[in-house]
Amino acid sequence: MSRVYNFSAGPAVLPEEVLRQAASEMLDYRGCGMSVMEMSHRSAAFKGIVEQAEADLRELLSVPDNYRVLFLQGGATLQFAAVPMNLMRPRSDGRPGTADYVVSGSWSKKAFKEAGLYGEARLVASSQDGNFSYVPDVDALEFSPDADYAYICQNETIYGTRYPKLPDTGDVPLVADVSSMLLSEPMEVSRYGLLYGGAQKNVGPAGVTIVVVRDDLVRDDVLPFTPTIMRYKTQAEAGSLSNTPPAYGIYVCGLVFKWLKERGGLSAARERNEEKARLLYDYLDQSRLFSGTARKEDRSLMNVPFVTGSSDLDAKFVAEAKAAGLESLKGHRSVGGMRASIYNAMPLEGVEALVAFMDRFERENG
Ligand SMILES: Cc1ncc(COP(=O)(O)O)c(C=O)c1O
Repeated sequence: MSRVYNFSAGPAVLPEEVLRQAASEMLDYRGCGMSVMEMSHRSAAFKGIVEQAEADLRELLSVPDNYRVLFLQGGATLQFAAVPMNLMRPRSDGRPGTADYVVSGSWSKKAFKEAGLYGEARLVASSQDGNFSYVPDVDALEFSPDADYAYICQNETIYGTRYPKLPDTGDVPLVADVSSMLLSEPMEVSRYGLLYGGAQKNVGPAGVTIVVVRDDLVRDDVLPFTPTIMRYKTQAEAGSLSNTPPAYGIYVCGLVFKWLKERGGLSAARERNEEKARLLYDYLDQSRLFSGTARKEDRSLMNVPFVTGSSDLDAKFVAEAKAAGLESLKGHRSVGGMRASIYNAMPLEGVEALVAFMDRFERENG
């Protein structure tokens, strides 16, 4: 067996130790005589798994007691709808609820469009004029004090940008899509009203979406047509077990939480991620063939898009890299070129191998 270095943006590389443990417990989970995939989500064994996963996630992220942690389905995309349905408050004079959106890439653009189906979604700022290569100036953002919430996508996976700091939204709850950065570094949860992310990048397999939401935003007075299963209150009261949860995915997320805790938690994860990102960006900054596409101040630690300037050469690079065991480096079609996603489970050696390959390619093709 030989494993490649997998730079996929998601589903993405998982820690090898986690995969081995899941494999060793596949046929018989700790004396249960069955796999986690086969057991009732109402069983004592699974209850233990989901409760431990929540406890470990709370510890890793230092989640305050007045926040609920939910393990949901439907992907981050379902949250594009669930957030306005749960948080928008129609006004007493009949006007719809309102929310302020910052659009810094495709994911926040989609969320903005979706929110417009349920109320008044207002565009506070957009970086589309620069093909989303930067994050709008955080200090210049003007949020309305009467908005039900203010929305950002903190790390835009496709364009490789990340907010250099969080905006100040005053008393308006900040909602953030953190899909491609969740658990890659410490976060100050109390700065957010709600944060959410799909698991399939840093956290676990596809099929699990994590929502961390402040108690006062878990309410009964959601938009009236909100499906029962999409109400945060339904899942908060049921400990994420209102219906059959993505049970096996939650189990693997739990193994990843343990893996992170054993390696020093999120501060240590950030150090490892900064070292990997520095290595790749330092190389890009001195390269005469490759260049990064995101503005320097806003560069993501997780997703690194880069181009040669020639689509033929980009295609050659992706094909030769694949043959050398460096997988899934093709960039998203809206940016072109290449993208290396270097999530928690990508070892430093993987980024070293990528940089060595880029250097050789540059000497041969530059
Ligand atoms: C930042 C961000 N938000 C949302 C999504 C959509 O996630 P899902 O496919 O889980 O709905 C993605 C997917 O890559 C993403 O990167």
